[in-house]
Parts: sequence; structure tokens; C-alpha cells
Amino acid sequence: MATDAAITRARTVPAWKALPAAVRDTHRALVDVGNWSDGDVVRVSLGVSRPYLVTNPAHVQEVLHERAAIYPRGDDTALWRSVRKLVGDGILAEGDAWAASRRVLAPMFRPARINAMVDTMADAIAGAVDGLHGAATAGTPIDVGRELSRIVCSAIMRVFFADRITVRDALRIMKAQETIVTAMAPRILAPLVPWWIPMPGDRRFRAAVRSIDDILLPVLRQAQRQPDDGDDLLSRLVRARADDGQALSEKRMRDDLVSMVAVTTETSTVVLTWLWPLLANHPDVANRLYDEIDRVVGGGPVRGDHLAELTYTRMVLDELLRLYPAGWILPRRAATTDVLGGVRINKGATVILSPYVTQRMTAWWGPTAEAFDPERFAAGREAADGRHRYAYYPFGVGMHRCLGEHLFNLEAILIVATLLSRFRFALTDTSMPGVKVAASTRPARTVEMVLKPVAPVPAR
Ligand code: HEM
Repeated sequence: MATDAAITRARTVPAWKALPAAVRDTHRALVDVGNWSDGDVVRVSLGVSRPYLVTNPAHVQEVLHERAAIYPRGDDTALWRSVRKLVGDGILAEGDAWAASRRVLAPMFRPARINAMVDTMADAIAGAVDGLHGAATAGTPIDVGRELSRIVCSAIMRVFFADRITVRDALRIMKAQETIVTAMAPRILAPLVPWWIPMPGDRRFRAAVRSIDDILLPVLRQAQRQPDDGDDLLSRLVRARADDGQALSEKRMRDDLVSMVAVTTETSTVVLTWLWPLLANHPDVANRLYDEIDRVVGGGPVRGDHLAELTYTRMVLDELLRLYPAGWILPRRAATTDVLGGVRINKGATVILSPYVTQRMTAWWGPTAEAFDPERFAAGREAADGRHRYAYYPFGVGMHRCLGEHLFNLEAILIVATLLSRFRFALTDTSMPGVKVAASTRPARTVEMVLKPVAPVPAR
């Protein structure tokens, strides 16, 4: 910790400057503030709310890892409060409830477990991609977000529920989630409005939560009545025992299932939607990707064995997650007064960490920070560029680090390789969409494309 003499108050971006820019384009405004701060901790005055913005990788490490105990998620930050209303107290909470859920869930997502399911996921993805051949042959544009939701749901519902939830119901869950994620926006933008004051979106939010429960609870109850030895998430939760040796309560299983479905499908779909406008604007990258996938996969179905050879595909996805990390803000609450980078952090203040901002700042990524360039992830580049370990943290840092990182990494390569081994694509609008203010990094408009078949549906 700095000595008293060295402790300063944070420089503040005044409301007259911060507010109009944030309303025009919140994501752009935050990156501009990040570049202006040059990595110092600053305060952003948004009228009544004045969060600290933490962008320096060394400070990210302190807040999320070394001093995580004094920077909890905080029940009262707008984002976490909305999340808690959906998922209750479990893996997305804090304290004992979170720790108990993490102990039960973490073993289910270890790489060895996920690796064992890779061909099951590949089959589900291939089956869902088969459904695109009709539109491709007819030259009908497809809604990329909607089709990716369907593909992601097919893969995840098999891994999580052993297909006990139909893809149709899974899509209803995703639709409800979409409502939830966007209905949170007014609360995120006006974090100090008390919860007893109704805001636009609240009613839609509650109805969407109910519709998710209507689908999940009967499936959960059935699994409780007839436990089995399945390897899927639901079967494992039903078999799991809490620290006291008791079966988990229905409420706890419900909260963890909803949390897991919410964080898995939304994140994967949103991130992968950004890939297509990026590729359309970088034909050199797209051509290299096609070459690699054609060489490794050919016309056959994608299998787990192919993944290790798809090294350029991996680099493209890493770069995609740099520019469009699904979790764009990770709010925390300072539980005590602290000093971060020589700046005093007041007890009770909101501290905002943003992979989106840090990963786009020139201080850590150079003058071309916002350009799409997968070469940044070529072997040895991180060390050669002297990059701080936490200049890139799309999956978070420390005790709350994402449980689904390995799952996403496998699932995403399988989806991209399956799609591009069968089709080429043309967007109906090649401009880069803006980013919508929501709980995840959603595009502000629908992305549409026309697929052109390059290979027949492979025999499986
Ligand atoms: C592109 C995909 C994904 C991204 C970018 C992403 C990002 C993140 C981030 C940044 C966090 C940390 C939140 C914080 O510090 O407060 C997180 C937590 C979490 N993620 Fe992911 N995630 C992704 C996919 C998934 C998937 C597929 C799963 C499914 C297993 C998953 C499960 C979780 C869980 C359970 C947590 C909470 C962990 C805890 O608090 O202990 N995520 N994720």
C-alpha cells in the first residue's frame, strides 16, 4: 500500500463530459476514458453515481485476485442486483452461497471432463448446422444471432441436460434471457434508482424469469424423482451432496441451473455473432481461416481430434474475445477504504473493471489496439510484446474466474469449423454494428448473412 504522502484522490471525468458521451455510445466513451486515464484509476461522474474505473492490468490483478476479499461483487451494484433477481443465491453470488456452489460445480467443468464430451458436442453442433442447408440452397438470409443460439443450445442442452430439454424449449429460455439481458439496461444506466421505483423493463424482466422457471422446474423435479447416473450437469447436481452430506435443496439446484444456462448460452452466442462482421471486413483473415479448416477438416464432420490442428482458428477466436468479451463490465464494491495505484478508493464505492476497455487500450495493446489482428495471439507474441498477463482477461481473474472457459474454447472452434467447412457467407450489411448497452456485449442490430454451400451435408 502507498504511504499517506503518495496517496492522491482519483482524477474525475466530470459529468458534463462523461454523461453525454456515455449516452451516445457507452462502450466508446469508456474506452476513451481508459485511454485518457493511461491506466490510472479515475472516477467517472455520472450524475449521482461516481464509480472508479480500473483499467491497468496490475490493478486488475490486485482487485480481482490479490485483494478480492475486500472487493466483493456487492449486492447493491445494479448489474449484480439484477443478476441476483434472476439466479438467486448461488454461483453468481458471493460469500458462503457462492463458495458452496463453486465447490459442487467446478469439478464438472474440469478440462478432462469437458474433453470427454467433445465428440458429443460435435455431433449436436453438426446436427444443428444441418438445419441451415435449406436456407443456404435457397439463398435466404439468416439471422446470425438466432441461428447461433440454436446451434449453441443444441450443444449445451446435451451437455447440461442430456437432451431432457428440447431445443424448442431451450430457445424459449434463450428468448427469455434476451429479454432479461436487455431489460437490465435501464438499471445499469441508472444504478442509483432504488429498486422500489418501477423502471422500464422491470415487468418484462419478471415475466421472463417466470417463463424460464416454467420450463426448468418440471425437468428438475422429474430428475429428483428419478435420479440416474448420467454425466450431464442436471444428473450430477441431483446426485451432489452439500458439505453437510445432504442432497442440495431444490432452490439451490434451480438457482445453479438457471445461472449456468444463462452464462453459457448468452455469452457463447453473443461472442460468436461478432465474428462474421469482423471476417467480412478482413478478407485476408477469412481466407486463412478457410484454408486451415479446409486442410484440417476437409468435407467430413469435425471431430475432437481436429481441434489441436486448428491453431489459426484458435488465434482468431482469441482475438475475437479481445475485442468483444461477453462480460464487458465486472462491477465490484469496495468493502473497506483502500489504495489502488496510489489513489484512494472510498469504502462503499463502486469499482468497475472492464475487459472490454483494458483489451482495447493503446497503453497495453499499442497504437493499433482496436484493429482486428489475430497475429497478436501467435505463439510467443505475448512475451515478445512484453504484455502484462492481465492485459487480456475475457474470462475474468481470480476466485470468480469463469468455469466455462474450456467448454467455450472447444465449443467455439467446433461451431466455427463446422460452419466454415460447409459454407461461405456474405453479410447483408457489412458495416460493424455498434454495441448495445446490456448485461453482455450484444450487437446493436441484427446481423444477417446469406450462406453458400461449399460441401454437401457430410455422412455421420
Ligand atoms: C465467451 C464465453 C464466455 C465469457 C467471455 C465468459 C466470461 C466470464 C467472466 C468475465 C466471468 C467472471 C465474472 C466476475 O469476475 O464477476 C465469468 C464467470 C463465470 N462463467 Fe463465464 N464466460 C463465458 C462462457 C461461459 C460458459 C460456457 C460457462 C459454462 C460453464 C460459464 C460459466 C461461468 C460461471 C459459472 C461463472 C461464475 C464463476 C464464479 O463466480 O465463481 N461461462 N465468465
